[in-house]
Amino acid sequence: MEIIALGYVGVRSARLDDWGQFATRLLGMQQVDRAGALRAFRMDDRAQRLMVEESAQEELGYLGFEVADAAALNRLAARLDAAGIAVRHGDGLADARMVAGLIRFQDPEGNELEVFHGGVRADTPFTPGRTISGFRTGPLGMGHVVFNVENIERMLPFYRDLLSFRVSDYGLKPYGLYFFHINARHHSFAMVGSGRRGFHHFMIELFSLDDVGQGYDLALLDPERVAYTLGRHTNDFMTSFYMHTPSGFFVETGWGGRSIDPATWQAHETTDGPSLWGHERPWMPPEQQDSLRRMRLDVAARGIRQPVQVMAGNYDLGPGICPWLEAQPRG
Ligand SMILES: [Fe+2]
Repeated sequence: MEIIALGYVGVRSARLDDWGQFATRLLGMQQVDRAGALRAFRMDDRAQRLMVEESAQEELGYLGFEVADAAALNRLAARLDAAGIAVRHGDGLADARMVAGLIRFQDPEGNELEVFHGGVRADTPFTPGRTISGFRTGPLGMGHVVFNVENIERMLPFYRDLLSFRVSDYGLKPYGLYFFHINARHHSFAMVGSGRRGFHHFMIELFSLDDVGQGYDLALLDPERVAYTLGRHTNDFMTSFYMHTPSGFFVETGWGGRSIDPATWQAHETTDGPSLWGHERPWMPPEQQDSLRRMRLDVAARGIRQPVQVMAGNYDLGPGICPWLEAQPRG
């Protein structure tokens, strides 16, 4: 188990200026100056987390996964090599990626993966593009990424057995859907076996629920921007909404994701559907929207609800489980 976090996401796009506006004003990232046809964005103390490179296509460019050090990188490279995966050493790219070292390879469906160590720290404090309390990264990594995949039976052994991503949970109907963890974040990676290839979304998590709600207000100013309305996921408990990006895939902006203990976590099947409430997807065909709506109403009718997941310093505890009773004189 070498990979410990999602480190960065690289996008290829013809819409660099749109990305600049989107990433700063809506997501709250900080744009940093880089040479050439590249936009780079910070979320924390790292020199960059999101990179957008000029291209005629709108697509995911690459994902950067992090390992602890050069020894872990070499171990992983040797294992991939032994499995017949073509591993390229990306030393010429280390400066552009702002890392100490990296390798590059493709998954069975041709997605470009990079694994790096030694992410460069910025020498100035993070200054968000809109007023937010900050992004939850650190040992949890940048967030999570989700692919649509053509053949999940081919992709599953690659990520689970070769990269050692651990299954958090999975659904089998109407098609395979697998969530994987590589640290305490419930999932850093997921695959939807929809039968078609494509990048579905990346998720970034904010410290404060109000950061998400205030971003939602900004997104609603543009009637075409929101792709999933505000809602809460059944498996990672994230309260979030999704936006259309300039490149067609989505970005999920969330708060309150659960942390798991990878040492004791047991993978299990889920049947409750994606959301406890919300996450209406207005762009979907009406019958699919309807089927998701029925799942949510069923989840609600069965009384399935989850405690909010809060970080120290981000909550005030009420006086008791039943405030009016607590207020009664004792004895
Ligand atoms: Fe997500």
